[in-house]
Amino acid sequence: MKKRAVKKAVIPAAGLGTRFLPATKAIPKEMLPIVDIPTVQYIVKEAVDSGIEEILIITNSNKHCMENHFDRAYELENRLMESQKEEEYHMVCDIANMANIYYVRQKEPKGLGHAILCAKSFIGEEPFAVLVGDDVVENRDGKPALKQLIEAYDEVQASIVGVQTVSDEDVSKYGIVEPARQPAGRRVKLSSMVEKPKKEEAPSNLAVLGRYVLTPEIFDYLETQTPGAGGEIQLTDSIKSLMISQAVYAYDFEGIRYDVGDKFGFIKATVEYALEREELREKLQTYLKDLVTTFGQPEA
Ligand code: G1P
Repeated sequence: MKKRAVKKAVIPAAGLGTRFLPATKAIPKEMLPIVDIPTVQYIVKEAVDSGIEEILIITNSNKHCMENHFDRAYELENRLMESQKEEEYHMVCDIANMANIYYVRQKEPKGLGHAILCAKSFIGEEPFAVLVGDDVVENRDGKPALKQLIEAYDEVQASIVGVQTVSDEDVSKYGIVEPARQPAGRRVKLSSMVEKPKKEEAPSNLAVLGRYVLTPEIFDYLETQTPGAGGEIQLTDSIKSLMISQAVYAYDFEGIRYDVGDKFGFIKATVEYALEREELREKLQTYLKDLVTTFGQPEA
């Protein structure tokens, strides 16, 4: 079999961001900053750090400022240069040079599977990555989550979904995989997958957390996929169908995953990323300690 490298990624970013209204009325949720970096920039960086060369972002009509963010900004650049703010100048230019980024609009919000189908002609006949913008993953001293998946793909040349263990209470929020055998190590072959199962119907506690490497044959299934959970065209359902003709694996990736599409997940990410910043760490640590003194411990 001819080995195919993963060089393209798709970032679905056409969601309405209803969980973050009113902030997302006029601003895409992907542009909300964790400290001072928009969430989508963390996702693009993970893709680039994982060896991705071309990125397609699936947008809608409300997402112009995301395109501006990854473009040159000549007026701003000139002003920064004139006022000798070199560091800021380079920071702004570097964002525009991160990767080759393309955009396509999902014309109707019909679900994640439908969003990925919008990438069909961009992807062609190559394996590709998917990074969901709501899932920011940090693996400070190790490889980015997507890189771990790509390396697993390179070994088996088959689709890989990135998973981590979630609690029984949380299985109904995610795509849950059914391993074909007891996992021994991080990679396991799958026999099935189900989108947002009830707690008592979940085949495992291994949840898909926003990272995928897929073979292009997925599009054959997405094209005819009927609506599933929530009345949406689900990527999970098409991956399950793909298992009939090809092996699909789960990879239990290393790293802390933040659900930045959720308010509490977003706050956690903000605090933890701020604690990583040298210029903020001490001030924030003192502040957090004082907060406990002021507000006390939570009731048990
Ligand atoms: C999507 C997927 C789901 C996955 C989740 C987290 O759901 O459909 O399988 O577990 O992302 O990455 P959503 O959160 O968009 O409803």
